[in-house]
Amino acid sequence: MSSAPPPTAPRADILVRAARTEDVPGMLQVSNSSQEWLIAQGLASAKEQPPITPDRMGWFTKKAEQDADWDTNTGRIFVAEIGNLVVGWCMATLAWPPHLPDTDLSQLYLSAIYVHQEYMKQGVARALIGFLKTEAGMQHVELIRAECKRIDKLVQYHEAWGFTPVEYTGFAPDYEEKMQLFHMDLRPEDERD
Ligand SMILES: CC(C)(COP(=O)(O)OP(=O)(O)OC[C@H]1O[C@@H](n2cnc3c(N)ncnc32)[C@H](O)[C@@H]1OP(=O)(O)O)[C@@H](O)C(=O)NCCC(=O)NCCS
Repeated sequence: MSSAPPPTAPRADILVRAARTEDVPGMLQVSNSSQEWLIAQGLASAKEQPPITPDRMGWFTKKAEQDADWDTNTGRIFVAEIGNLVVGWCMATLAWPPHLPDTDLSQLYLSAIYVHQEYMKQGVARALIGFLKTEAGMQHVELIRAECKRIDKLVQYHEAWGFTPVEYTGFAPDYEEKMQLFHMDLRPEDERD
């Protein structure tokens, strides 16, 4: 008897929306719990990495909430909720960190994505990425960039979300030993190089 393929569509009850200051405790729980997943993937350094501090998370979220304009904001934050519970969040910006190569394309950079361990494998991250893609389309963004640690499962997830691994051409030493850069080209196929 053949087993059914795993579902790929997110659960229907996931709502994605801009983060608000009152979401901060839930967001911290999400990122703290997701560290366990990284440790299980063999990323020993996740044990030593301090969780994102409440102050820092609060500051970012307040800023993101007050300035909902992509052009001026240095990081917009979106939460995924099920019921009234924050189960995942991501951060994205039109700017990009200096170690990434320049691009002439209008771009969005995904700087963080976390899902609570108890809500992983239900399509929560996929729903966040889908939301971001729609936002990017509305902003006429041509390219979404993301990067992750070189962990097989993380690379596979990025590919499943629609990203393509690309060669890193920036100046950060040993980048490709540890990190993988991804592109999601949103231009129509006949307009790509
Ligand atoms: C990486 C991470 C964000 C993925 O979150 P996620 O919500 O589980 O990811 P997805 O939405 O893509 O779901 C993926 C899995 O769920 C399955 N799935 C998708 N929709 C589903 C559904 N409706 N029901 C059941 N399973 C589903 C997929 O088949 C996939 O399964 P697989 O692991 O066997 O391939 C999460 O594991 C995490 O927070 N990790 C720690 C932090 C981190 O590393 N962040 C990335 C930094 S770059």
